[in-house]
Amino acid sequence: MEFVHKSLISCFLLLSLFTLSVLSHLFSPIDNYLVDCGSTVETTIDNRRFVGDLSSYNTPLSSSARSISFRNENPVPGLPPIYHTARIFTGPTKYVFDIRDKGTQMVRLHFYRFNSPKFQLSDAEFNVLVNEYVVLSNFSRLSTDNPRIVEYLIRVDTEKLVIWFVPNKNSKFAFVNAIEVISAPKDLVPDTAQYVSSQNVEKFDVLSKQALEIVFRVNVGGPKVTPFNDSLWRTWIPDDEFFKSNAGSERLYFGGRIKYQVGGASREVGPDNVYNSARLIRSNNDSIPNVNMTWVFPIIGGYKYLVRMHFCDIASISLGLLYFNVYVNGNLAYKNLDLTYITGSLASPFYADFVVDGDMTGILSVDIGPSKSSIPYVVDGILNGIEVMKLNNSYNSLDGEISADMVLKCSSKGNTGVLFTYVAAVCILLSISMIIRRRMMGTRDSVWSRLPVNASDDNIKMGNIQSASKINYQQV
Ligand SMILES: *[C@@H]1O[C@H](CO)[C@@H](O)[C@H](O)[C@H]1NC(C)=O
Ligand SMILES: *[C@@H]1O[C@H](CO)[C@@H](O)[C@H](O)[C@H]1NC(C)=O
Ligand SMILES: *[C@@H]1O[C@H](CO)[C@@H](O)[C@H](O)[C@H]1NC(C)=O
Ligand SMILES: *[C@@H]1O[C@H](CO)[C@@H](O)[C@H](O)[C@H]1NC(C)=O
Ligand SMILES: *[C@@H]1O[C@H](CO)[C@@H](O)[C@H](O)[C@H]1NC(C)=O
Repeated sequence: MEFVHKSLISCFLLLSLFTLSVLSHLFSPIDNYLVDCGSTVETTIDNRRFVGDLSSYNTPLSSSARSISFRNENPVPGLPPIYHTARIFTGPTKYVFDIRDKGTQMVRLHFYRFNSPKFQLSDAEFNVLVNEYVVLSNFSRLSTDNPRIVEYLIRVDTEKLVIWFVPNKNSKFAFVNAIEVISAPKDLVPDTAQYVSSQNVEKFDVLSKQALEIVFRVNVGGPKVTPFNDSLWRTWIPDDEFFKSNAGSERLYFGGRIKYQVGGASREVGPDNVYNSARLIRSNNDSIPNVNMTWVFPIIGGYKYLVRMHFCDIASISLGLLYFNVYVNGNLAYKNLDLTYITGSLASPFYADFVVDGDMTGILSVDIGPSKSSIPYVVDGILNGIEVMKLNNSYNSLDGEISADMVLKCSSKGNTGVLFTYVAAVCILLSISMIIRRRMMGTRDSVWSRLPVNASDDNIKMGNIQSASKINYQQV
């Protein structure tokens, strides 16, 4: 009886601890725009309110002149409602967001190519700009299977964040289903990282000034983490498709509490669900396994990449037993990593940022392996999460050697610009011909000068009828 009582109390304590830790860590961003494009109503997903871009007077959509709201009449069952509508752009169109919290902004764009007899979203090919950065160029070939979500971390030092959708010259339109613009916590993108090359490891101190595209976000050894379970509404996918070794490694799930500490990784950097699972190398006898755990990511060469690795010692039986090496692209990035020395505690999260040059072979690799200080009979390597982010190139682009200016210039040359010059030229020609004609006709009444007279006669008649009917109305 007493035992039951005690376990009930501890159950309650655990529960209240849990709610406490959840509540005290709810992140509330200063700027938080959730837009359901092409919609007039609000949509709630995971307790987040997406507002239709036609539903209020202060919509971020700058002008709806070159765009069409589009609704999918036969959505796939179970598909979140933000993907039931889209906004289609027939010419360059922008959304403008007022930014109160300057600094890094998280920008997520949602694309879902639904089929419709009216519109072939598959024909869309377009460019997307965020402020001075090209984030997508010649974007097309979207699959109909799943929504495609792209995510960027963009530093904004002005009061506006502007997102342009620019159809390509040969394409008829661009589209988007939903937009998120959220101010990132200040510790999400630090100023510095370590630049790792085959020569050495050196300081990379302009990290926060780069635009970043999240290419992979992986929960090592654990299940998919959905926006519902992430403090910044991110998605972390399982690592199985990237994990390339191996003999002698194992998965681990930890049911205890993750101890976030000031100065370490915060819950916004990585949620509990990422730190409570891992893969690890364990020594079962008096020798240290001569193996690596290896992850391989397909990337596009010609860009720099930020590799963020998440560590949390949820496996060791006591402090001071875990030592290992970290390699990126085959180069030693962190020698003899000692999580006890850094965090002073078990189950306390830590992350390390490395910048590397994207290899032209299209492969980015991460290895974790025992070091010279590794100890037998204990855990000799661990990893909980990996994020791979692309840095903008010197064109300020994350997608090709093209600048935002070039995208806008090309598009105006392509369609509206040409139309404008054409109309302007016709107008000038017309007025010149008018002047010439008047001069040639001399004092004689021209067709042009007679027309207004007739018109004003008509106006007078119309006016009489109108005032007559007014009087009638008043009499009634
Ligand atoms: C959130 O995480 C918990 C366990 O950590 C899991 O049971 C639950 O299914 C997750 N919810 C969603 C919506 O992913
Ligand atoms: C230690 O265990 C590993 C496998 O876990 C095995 O391959 C190795 O031969 C063992 N070493 C000794 C000295 O028994
Ligand atoms: C582990 O990976 C590093 C970097 O690729 C390599 O130098 C080392 O030889 C590897 N160790 C083993 C045992 O494969
Ligand atoms: C990315 O853009 C920033 C800001 O324009 C620039 O300073 C930086 O050099 C660019 N990054 C690269 C790798 O060219
Ligand atoms: C986009 O496609 C056009 C041709 O349609 C091509 O000229 C241009 O170079 C492409 N842009 C990029 C960045 O690849």
